[in-house]
Amino acid sequence: MTACIVGWAHTPFGKLNGETVESLVVRVANEALADAAIAAKDVDEILLGHFNAGFSAQDFTASLVLQASPDLRFKRATRVENACATGSAAVHQGLKAIAARSARIVLVVGVEQMTTTPAAEIGRNLLKASYVREEADIDGGFAGLFGKIAGLYFQRWGDQSDALARIAAKNHKNGVGNPYAQLRKDFGYDFCREESEKNPRVAGPLKRTDCSPVSDGAAALVLADVETALKLGKAVVFRAAAHVQDFLPMSRRDVLKFEGCALAWKRALAEAGVALSDLSFAEVHDCFTIAELIEYEAMGLVPEGHGARAIAEGTVAKDGALPINPSGGLKAKGHPIGATGVSMHALAAMQLSGAAGDMQVKDARLGGLFNMGGAAVANYVSILERLR
Ligand code: COA
Repeated sequence: MTACIVGWAHTPFGKLNGETVESLVVRVANEALADAAIAAKDVDEILLGHFNAGFSAQDFTASLVLQASPDLRFKRATRVENACATGSAAVHQGLKAIAARSARIVLVVGVEQMTTTPAAEIGRNLLKASYVREEADIDGGFAGLFGKIAGLYFQRWGDQSDALARIAAKNHKNGVGNPYAQLRKDFGYDFCREESEKNPRVAGPLKRTDCSPVSDGAAALVLADVETALKLGKAVVFRAAAHVQDFLPMSRRDVLKFEGCALAWKRALAEAGVALSDLSFAEVHDCFTIAELIEYEAMGLVPEGHGARAIAEGTVAKDGALPINPSGGLKAKGHPIGATGVSMHALAAMQLSGAAGDMQVKDARLGGLFNMGGAAVANYVSILERLR
């Protein structure tokens, strides 16, 4: 690969009163440039990941990044959208600009403000990322779709309530160490396992603790070609970047297989010339706990139908053979749609630079991440390694 992450910024995720899409974008753009020690005038290209779909009255948001500095005026700036994988879509677009040598330095920002929207509208906005003709009438918003997937998984492979609660408990425990996380509380397995007034059923077998929360937040990266990166303070190189897009209708696929996710991991690992077992950690897309469970299978950690083993045997625990979501994942961190993929890259870069604080995985050398749009429709895998 030809590009590195040379700087990053991350707001806390959660209900951010007093912030706007614009204020979040401006804040992380300036902080990431400062972190990389890059002047705004030296940026060649700007990419903004912003899903929106009705969350913000302001659409056409690419130029909001220019509000960060007068020196960004007249730069190429484009908004990128690919549902919940919007952030990674923006990052991968930046890699292409560098690979094509049309840019040396790229500023990538991901943002979403969701909490100012009334609850019923949140569900409707998110369901615009389903195949509307067949799927948008489901109750419970996107949780309804993943509740259906969970129900189908239980029918095929047996009740997985224990495994889902273990995944929720693991990610909440990891999230306590994440200063940017929305929910920094170790709920424990018993709380996540039991349906209760504080943990009600949301859709199908999914309870509140099986869902990522509704969030505001932003993250940003500065990308640079390797030659430029080597002259800077930090350089985390992309060993691979794979994007696999599948059919939108769930009716055209076996939704329990996450085939696009599997292919994206296969291609990325081949491109990097490494095996899954070479990774020190992975950040994966746990929008719902059932998604993380199926991803264990799709990424090749365990055979199909055996996702529960990876969590029961401790493989994916923070001190396991392949720690998954040491940041707490979307479950604890929050999931401001357009920011999530950029956040995953920033957190992986922190891990690989030894700058992850209480999230730090020991001896993190090679990291993988998987960011997904829809139910395994847009699938992005990046594999990162510290260069300096
Ligand atoms: N996990 C754990 N706790 C959560 C939570 C979550 N996902 N969401 C909210 N809470 C907590 C709140 O912190 C609050 O705690 P408190 O009483 O101690 O203050 C309590 O639950 C009630 O919060 P509230 O916002 O009223 O919950 P809710 O029932 O309205 O919303 C969900 C819960 C799960 C329905 C909502 O978070 C949701 O819709 N998530 C899915 C979002 C989504 O679809 N994203 C796209 C994925 S592809």
